[in-house]
Amino acid sequence: MAVRGKVGDNVLYLAHRHEIEMEGACEASLACTTCHVYVKDEYLDRLPESTEKEDDLLDMAPFLKQNSRLGCQIVLTKELEGLELQLPKATRNFYVDGHKPKPH
Ligand code: FES
Repeated sequence: MAVRGKVGDNVLYLAHRHEIEMEGACEASLACTTCHVYVKDEYLDRLPESTEKEDDLLDMAPFLKQNSRLGCQIVLTKELEGLELQLPKATRNFYVDGHKPKPH
């Protein structure tokens, strides 16, 4: 699904606003892993480096992958236009702004 976000939006809250099942149990205070997302590779480099705290938490996240990040630490910037994220275990992807889903 595609959602619209604006620069400065936190991905976790953006997801909540659109009723995407990203839990975010700790309300973005970097104390859980329930906001775990996979970031599509080409956007991974455009994100700020993860902090040590985020990395520690990610180490505990189930289904950790190379492109795992914590959703609540992703704040939208202009460079992230079209950002594609995937929720672990979920079959549903979601896209932020500007992404044109391909017709089936
Ligand atoms: S909501 Fe808990 S670390 Fe992101």
